[in-house]
Parts: sequence; C-alpha cells; structure tokens
Amino acid sequence: MPDSRDLISTERQPEDESVELSLRPNYLSEYIGQEVVKENLRVAIEAARRRGDSLDHILLSGPPGLGKTTLAHVIANELGVGIRVTSGPAIERPGDLVAILTNLEDRDVLFIDEIHRLSRVAEEALYPAMEDFSYDWVAGKGPQARTYRLKLPKFTLIAATTRTGLLTSPLRDRFGISFRLEYYSQEELYQVVKRSAKILDIPIDRGGGMEIARRSRGTPRIANRLLRRVRDFAQVRRDGEITREVAAEALTMLEIDEMGLDRSDRQILLTIIEKYGGGPVGLSTLAASLSEDPGTLEDVYEPYLLQIGFLERTPRGRSVTQKAIEYMGKSVRSREQGRLFEEP
Ligand SMILES: Nc1ncnc2c1ncn2[C@@H]1O[C@H](COP(=O)(O)OP(=O)(O)OP(=O)(O)O)[C@@H](O)[C@H]1O
Ligand SMILES: [Mg+2]
Repeated sequence: MPDSRDLISTERQPEDESVELSLRPNYLSEYIGQEVVKENLRVAIEAARRRGDSLDHILLSGPPGLGKTTLAHVIANELGVGIRVTSGPAIERPGDLVAILTNLEDRDVLFIDEIHRLSRVAEEALYPAMEDFSYDWVAGKGPQARTYRLKLPKFTLIAATTRTGLLTSPLRDRFGISFRLEYYSQEELYQVVKRSAKILDIPIDRGGGMEIARRSRGTPRIANRLLRRVRDFAQVRRDGEITREVAAEALTMLEIDEMGLDRSDRQILLTIIEKYGGGPVGLSTLAASLSEDPGTLEDVYEPYLLQIGFLERTPRGRSVTQKAIEYMGKSVRSREQGRLFEEP
C-alpha cells in the first residue's frame, strides 16, 4: 500500500517527473486558472513584443505544485525565445552566474528556481545584471586595482520561490513584475484532470473528474498524481473508466478523504482536539506527540489545513477551528460505521 503522505505531498515525487513533462501546458491558452496573472502577462508580453524589447523581470511565488516552473516555460514560449533553467543552490559563485548569463541570447529567459536559496555573493552579482545588463569585476588590489564592466545580453529573469518572506528587499525590488499563484478552485482542478486524462488517454466522466478535483488540495500536481492512482484502480478492479463511484472508492482505499485529507492530517487534527482541548498547542509539542518532524508538519501539512480554515496559527500555538471539529466528528462517526466517509 503506498504511503498516503507521498500522494498528498506537494513536493515533486520521482514518479511525477517524466509525466509532468508530458502534462505541462506550453502556452497561456492551455494554462488553466490564475486568470488575473494570465491577463497581466498577456499585456506585458504584447507590450514587450511591440517595443521589440525584453520582458521585465518576473518574480513568481506560491506553494509547491501550483505551476511556477510551468508558467516560466509558458512565458518563454509565448515570447518565442529560449529559456535557460537553473536554481538558487546551483549557483555557488558569481562566476557561475556570469557563465550562464554570457551564454544567453538577447531577450532570452533565465529561470532561477528557489531563488530564496541563492548565496549572498551571487545575489549581489545579480543586481547590476538585472538593472543594467552588466557585470562589474575588480582585477588587482590596492591602487593598481581596476574595475572592468562586462556587457550582458538583455535577458528576462524569471525567478520562483515558495518563500517570498526569505527574499531580501533589494532583490524583491528589482523585479518589475511580481505574481503570487493561488490555490486552484475545484472547477479549475477539474479542468486540469480532464486535460491530463485526455493526454494520457484515460476514460473519465465529469463525476469522476470532480471527485478527484475535490480531493486534490487545490494543487494541480496532486490532481495529476491522484488521477494516475485512480486510473490504476479503475483498470485493475473495474472496467477502466473513472466514474464518480470508482474515484471515490479508489481514493477512500488510498485513505484520501472527502477534503483531500490523509491519515496524518486527520491524526494532527484529532491530536489537537483530543489531547490539547482544541489548542493552542506549540508546534514542537504537537510534533513530539505525533512523533513527527516539526518541519514536515509546518511545510507539508499546515499550509493546506490553514488554507481550508481547519487550523489557526495564534501567538501561543496551533488551534483547530469549529469547522475542523465538526468535520472530524463526521469523520469519526462514519469510521465507526466502517467507512472512511459517507457516500452522499
Ligand atoms: N495552470 C495549470 N494548468 C494545467 N496544469 C498545470 C497548471 N499548473 C501546474 N500544472 C501541472 O502541475 C504540475 C506541477 O507544476 P509545476 O512543476 O509548474 O509547479 P511548481 O509551482 O513549479 O512547483 P515547485 O514549487 O515544487 O517547483 C505541472 O507539471 C503541470 O502538469
Ligand atoms: Mg517548480
């Protein structure tokens, strides 16, 4: 039985890699949701195109799996330019950055993933590169020292981060455009599932697609992953077609409940309710009672529980909401009746 944590984790899993490439939208017209971002991008891209100029530098932020990397590729495709991909931790010294920058063509996109992990020295070399498309370096020491200025191609930097709070303000200020990607609605996730099912040639009806969408935690990466697991179930245990009933049964078997919560999410909520009277309880105390790592609690589980209004962060710790208590009551009742959740 697969660990349900891998299913609901927003981090990219090894099995996602090959399939994500084939499912990745290439143009804005195929990119689902994020309407405000797309509209602003269309205008900026068209304006840059008319001026024959490079597009302003863009900062993309938001939780994992919402489509930041995908969008960077889409923008390069829309501009009709090349894209070079690297990441914050991969650029160790300013020289690494210069090597990449000098190899770009005018108007090309440089995509730096995890920009919050860029080293201080590399970040400082990036400032003049972003501002004046130049790189300055000093040769020699003391009175003999001379400054040289290297001219760089007029590139567009697209940077992605899951943690905007960790960016320094001088860096943040150098992006002309900044977008925050939001969690997807159920209808948008349904569109993602429908599109992916078509590409992967998986028979699915609207009920089946909506059931997967509902349990995908607002995240396209999870929707695509659940689709593949449900397909396996449909092929082995049913006639291959994903209907509402098949999807619900498969996901229940995988221990993903109606809200997309897995066993650990439910355990977290139950522990706060039963052991700590609903909270507040400090993160490290809670982690210790669950024999869980505090970082995993904070990065993997909390964002979605906060997003759906089941959890609250207070200065004194984490508390569950009334909504969560009611939901868990329903979960416990249906579990006592031998089902993970009620069939409507
Ligand atoms: N708007 C979208 N429309 C359709 N599919 C999408 C969309 N956004 C993301 N996806 C799908 O979800 C997968 C994950 O997206 P992506 O890798 O771009 O996320 P990310 O934000 O870069 O995540 P991370 O923070 O982990 O790098 C993509 O391969 C793509 O198939
Ligand atoms: Mg990414």
